[in-house]
Amino acid sequence: MIERIKQLLDEVEQLHAASPEEVEALRIKYLSKKGEISQLMDDFRTVPAEMKKELGKRINELKSRATERINELKAGVAVLDTVADDVDLTRTPYPISLGTRHPLTIVKNEIVDIFSRLGFTLAEGPEVEDDWHVYSSMNFADDHPARDMQDTFFVEAHPDIILRSHTSSVQARVMERQQPPIRVICPGRVYRNEAVSARAHCFFHQVEGLYVDKNVSFKDLKQVLLLFAQEMFGSDTKIRLRPSFFPFTEPSAEMDVSCTICGGKGCSMCKGSGWLEILGCGMVDPAVLEANGIDSTVYSGYAFGMGIERIANLKYQVKDLRMFSENDVRFLEEFTAAN
Ligand code: DAH
Repeated sequence: MIERIKQLLDEVEQLHAASPEEVEALRIKYLSKKGEISQLMDDFRTVPAEMKKELGKRINELKSRATERINELKAGVAVLDTVADDVDLTRTPYPISLGTRHPLTIVKNEIVDIFSRLGFTLAEGPEVEDDWHVYSSMNFADDHPARDMQDTFFVEAHPDIILRSHTSSVQARVMERQQPPIRVICPGRVYRNEAVSARAHCFFHQVEGLYVDKNVSFKDLKQVLLLFAQEMFGSDTKIRLRPSFFPFTEPSAEMDVSCTICGGKGCSMCKGSGWLEILGCGMVDPAVLEANGIDSTVYSGYAFGMGIERIANLKYQVKDLRMFSENDVRFLEEFTAAN
């Protein structure tokens, strides 16, 4: 009999049920008048007197454990029951709103992608830089106004450590560790000590390009920039180069593209001129090559730099620069289709 009790106890521990009907069937099997435990009680009458105490205790334990277990199962299927009645488990719990790529990331990726197809590889440099990489190696005179506190953020207690004010510093980073041929495209954030307004910000983004090799000429620069403009703004886009000045290029130019709104006829976007300025460029000044360990009698190069916000403004007509850094979802969601 003791074996039978043990076996039933094991069975009771393993019980499971998926519906109220199954629980009821188990209750009948174990706990009803004709159930397993009642039968044990009947047999109990015939056991010798000296075993009654021990066996009686065990049968009572079995009975209370079986009752407990059946009640647990009842509670379990009751929960299942409510779930099945009231909840559609296949339904999405709440509308999932997908994030969007930031418009500046979209434009940056597009620029990098165009230049990658032309053989440029990605290069990056630090945002916290030293004076050498941002200014001195880029041929800025000691008294150049860009070094001024009005333009440059200094890292406190380190007059030499600054937040880079342009991505041209990455040119120096690349040249100092690599000999030509060099063909890199360098996107990144830059900082300038400007009052924040709709038209200026204390940080923005640029993409720098650099190509250094034997026999690189201005016509290579012009060709690559024309290709870029047509990929970026459409195949009808025209470019024009106006003479300019940068310390790190000689000769230097600024490039305009035909207006992306009126196509060159003149409108409010291009202030009637038909042209929009988008970047600075030029032939790398031999002094810059030499400062960065490249022999300027053997190699020549071109460089260009553009503001990503500027390009994004032309593509999407964003009127206020601050929109790019406020993370207002209503603004960001406008770019879902461009992702
Ligand atoms: N560094 C310039 C700026 O921040 C942009 C620039 C102009 C970069 C001409 C160049 C370049 O590489 O050749 O305004």
